[in-house]
Amino acid sequence: MTESAREPELMQKIVSLCKRRGFVFQSSEIYGGLKSAYDYGPMGVELKRNLMNEWWTFMVTSREDVVGIESSIIMHPDVWRASGHVGNFNDPLVDCLVCQERFRADKAPQVEIGAATPITLGDKARAKLAQDKVKTLLEASDSSGQASGALSRDGLTVHGTAAKDRNYVCPNCGSPFLSKERNFNGMFRSSLGPTDPMASVIEALKQGVAEGKSDEELRVLADQAMNKSTVYLRPETAQGMFVQFQNVQQSLSIKVPFGIAQMGKSFRNEITVEHFIFRSCEFEQMEMEFFCEPGTGPKWLDYWKEQRQLWWEGLGLKKEKLRFRAHGEDELAHYSDGCFDVEYEFPWGFDELEGIASRTDYDLNAHMAGSKKKLHYFDPEADDPETGKKGYRFVPHVVEPAAGATRGVLAVLCDAYDEELDAEGNLNRVVLRLHPRLAPYKVAILPLVKKDEQLVERARVVTEQFLAAGIAAKYDEQHTIGKRYAKHDEIGTPYCLTVDADTLLDGSVTIRFRDDKRQERIPVERAVEIVVAALRKGRV
Ligand code: GAP
Repeated sequence: MTESAREPELMQKIVSLCKRRGFVFQSSEIYGGLKSAYDYGPMGVELKRNLMNEWWTFMVTSREDVVGIESSIIMHPDVWRASGHVGNFNDPLVDCLVCQERFRADKAPQVEIGAATPITLGDKARAKLAQDKVKTLLEASDSSGQASGALSRDGLTVHGTAAKDRNYVCPNCGSPFLSKERNFNGMFRSSLGPTDPMASVIEALKQGVAEGKSDEELRVLADQAMNKSTVYLRPETAQGMFVQFQNVQQSLSIKVPFGIAQMGKSFRNEITVEHFIFRSCEFEQMEMEFFCEPGTGPKWLDYWKEQRQLWWEGLGLKKEKLRFRAHGEDELAHYSDGCFDVEYEFPWGFDELEGIASRTDYDLNAHMAGSKKKLHYFDPEADDPETGKKGYRFVPHVVEPAAGATRGVLAVLCDAYDEELDAEGNLNRVVLRLHPRLAPYKVAILPLVKKDEQLVERARVVTEQFLAAGIAAKYDEQHTIGKRYAKHDEIGTPYCLTVDADTLLDGSVTIRFRDDKRQERIPVERAVEIVVAALRKGRV
């Protein structure tokens, strides 16, 4: 089964619309595509920028207590040692011995030890092969699966197996026959500088072999030789804010509480890339670190939880499809004293869109320990709670709303996608009911007949007027008027203006509203003003 054939039907339709209408393309498609990366086409780039600009306005430019930065993607490798990303953040990687799927053990579907584990493949031929494979695997003494009865097959599903010593199964086929867990670090590595790290690795290995080192020891030697020039692509934007905390605070003399925000690319060598742009190896984040006084983290966590809910809902996402999920005690990182996930109901179910975490003083302390620099904040006017004296020096605590921008684009697309049926139940039109502020084009200007030079000229003048007013407008003369409406419905253009013979006679144009297809006649000289007013009200 191809990746997209495993998706719910609605997702398949959205992926297809994204390609057809220029929102998202598979990366390097003409070379067979790169599974873990995507390119944003002309419509997608506008939608993503509109979403990210909305975030920036809401989180930074409309507030006095949050400022922005843009830190580099490649940072000093010690940043990642101090933050714990090198060394600690290793994911347990497992291979399914039946279907060969590679996945993260900690994200796999859970089962009780001893529970029956039906194994389902995508087609009969593979189900038959799986049955033979299972027969062999059951004979192996160190297998992680066991028999739960006679082995049988019913169509695509093999029955008669159970989990023996693992409490999870393969997320693809449900098999309990799994390889041993191996640790895997999800950060992308590269080398900085003109020297070839391979030469140092070869030298180190030659020496190791001459000294009779074991394979494990040779690996350590190779790693050490590589590490001299190793750098990492950032797996989150957050560390840029922590390591620049002091520069930002001192250069602006800004008082705690305040936040530092940034948006940009992050990279994770994800074991499972899934659901189109939902989980990819290269993606964009929108994160803000809010530095506050010790003891006030829980209060700010509540505050930011509310703010983030307002933002997502303000973009028009359906309220019933958004929910907050508080992390249980067992889910919380050891340094965190509270965390919520904002979840959206994607076509495959509720899944994470954003995490809002109270991270205490963990990150600044980690960077103080790693860099041996003091990252305290001093408030000369506050009383020190311990001594009662004027002047309070402390390591700020942090509350972090961390949202996915590319994941946000998918949520917005899923939420906006709608199909209208006619009286017989046949598909009448597909419409993207995007919030007008997110729509790639705000208005399309359509001459009714492309061959009529006067109409074309008038429509071009109107288009120029919109562009001069800073409104993303599209002059469009190709195909019949019905096809043009259908196309703009599919890319979410909220308003279409049709220039026809009456426009030349009485200076009026038809404005068509995307959501209910109603049409009104308006004076052409007031078209920009009317569209601006409708955009402001979000009237589609
Ligand atoms: N600084 C905290 C942090 O990075 P996270 O939960 O790992 O937290 C924050 O990431 C958000 O980034 C997630 O809620 C998700 O929206 C997005 N994200 C994380 N990994 C992603 C991936 N592989 N592809 C797309 N978006 C991802």
